[in-house]
Amino acid sequence: MPFSGQEKQDITNIWGKVAGNADNLGGEAMERLFRCYPQTKTYFSKMNLEHGSPAVKAQGGKVLKAVGLATQHIDNLSGALSALSDLHAHNLRVDPGNFGLLNQCILVVLAVHFPEDFTPCAHAAWDKFLASISACLTSKYR
Ligand code: HEM
Repeated sequence: MPFSGQEKQDITNIWGKVAGNADNLGGEAMERLFRCYPQTKTYFSKMNLEHGSPAVKAQGGKVLKAVGLATQHIDNLSGALSALSDLHAHNLRVDPGNFGLLNQCILVVLAVHFPEDFTPCAHAAWDKFLASISACLTSKYR
């Protein structure tokens, strides 16, 4: 589904506030993922997942920077995320159900840090955006 002008504005506005702090905010999202949905830890068996782990922060930063890249290619997500899609489907084999769990955690982090910006419309736009990214990253599972 294409994004409306208002949705794009809500997405880029909040991204503008996340961009400079992607490692910290991404780390928070990953920590929430591992705490709320411990089954997701199985994919990161070699990583130190303790509270405050630099590896978790770095991983969260990578995830959010990919989301940031996606904000610049919102009308061509599948092209922009093609390599990441190969990685998650073919190499990592992450069960698609896990994407929704991470998306929830990212939404909570945005809501906690940017309550003024996280209006119901912005919430809906980000939910749609993250779901579209997930759809791309899980599109090559065959
Ligand atoms: C919004 C959804 C997601 C995005 C944008 C994303 C993005 C990324 C990026 C950018 C990397 C690093 C790739 C590289 O180093 O070249 C990565 C690696 C990885 N992702 Fe995802 N990811 C997402 C969801 C998930 C989920 C839901 C899981 C599993 C619960 C997962 C598991 C992994 C694993 C295991 C790695 C490799 C980590 C390592 O050992 O270095 N990803 N992801």
